[in-house]
Amino acid sequence: ADKKRKQIFQLLTQATAFYQQQLRKHESRIEAARYLTKRGLSADIVKNYQLGLAPPGWDLLINHLIEANSSLSEDSVKKLAIEAGLLVENPENQRRYDRFRNRIMFPILDVRNRVIGFGGRVLGNSEDNKKQPKYLNSPETPVFHKGKELYGLTYAKKIFSQIPQLLVVEGYMDVVSLAQFDIHYAVATLGTACGQDHLELAFKHTQEVIFCFDGDKAGRNAAKRALENCLPTMQDGRQVKFLFLPEGEDPDTLVRQIGKDSFEQMIGKAVPLEEYLFDSVAENMNLATMEGRASLSKKVAPLINLLPKGIYRELMFSNLARR
Ligand code: UTP
Ligand code: MN
Ligand code: MN
Ligand code: MN
Ligand code: MN
Repeated sequence: ADKKRKQIFQLLTQATAFYQQQLRKHESRIEAARYLTKRGLSADIVKNYQLGLAPPGWDLLINHLIEANSSLSEDSVKKLAIEAGLLVENPENQRRYDRFRNRIMFPILDVRNRVIGFGGRVLGNSEDNKKQPKYLNSPETPVFHKGKELYGLTYAKKIFSQIPQLLVVEGYMDVVSLAQFDIHYAVATLGTACGQDHLELAFKHTQEVIFCFDGDKAGRNAAKRALENCLPTMQDGRQVKFLFLPEGEDPDTLVRQIGKDSFEQMIGKAVPLEEYLFDSVAENMNLATMEGRASLSKKVAPLINLLPKGIYRELMFSNLARR
């Protein structure tokens, strides 16, 4: 099993280099470069984040992997590539083809700097590619567990000896775009909700987590789920805040409009968990009435009970009583 993991890591590393090379050599590099420029990504960022290109085509990567691993049989390379999430097998006709095609590729690194998977964004507008999902991620593999990894954490660790705060955003593009504006403490979940494992990982590296989801319905729902998921991880000394973006914006679009300083000023005004906990529940309640206050208490108390025993939880209960 250990040997298998090693081989999977090796394929993922080879795939990363291949995608990077395609961004320099493949004929579709021109369209890719145009797209990256349109998104405002500099050559430095592309290099630093090891971004690449999966060109259109069904077997470019797998053929490269077969060639690069000539000590293995073609069939064992294909089997490994399937386990690595790079190759897909159609269960109906057993045809095998490259999972990532016609996409900008974001390698996902673990905290030990190893590539464990990829996120791929379709080139251009998703409207032009209606059949294709805008973002495609590696599936769960022996080395990739979406629920446990945060995109961008490795880079934050490289920049800071002690990460002051982690901004949890929705997408790879948000992380990379913020980095381009010198904001190096953003991380993204990988197309999943921010769960307890994500938060425990984040709190291993910082004491303060700020959720900054998109200014849309999906983002606001994500914030509510993040609230519930973070409560059990709130040991004393840890801090969580919520930053709500203007309607229609995400961190990428916003930082491009207002720049680093204004963006960081907004971060400074993020809502602390202890406020958001009440506000999110009280949204449609009339606290001027006894009934309103009773129903607030009924809804908030179970949330507070999710907090670990400690001073913070006691404070929240007295906060509730005061309200
Ligand atoms: P969004 O729909 O907000 O992405 O999805 P976006 O900001 O518009 O993407 P860009 O800016 O055009 O590139 C938020 C996040 O949800 C995940 C991605 O991580 C994305 O960044 N997602 C979205 C998927 O995993 N799959 C999808 O098909 C769409
Ligand atoms: Mn594992
Ligand atoms: Mn969104
Ligand atoms: Mn976006
Ligand atoms: Mn978005």
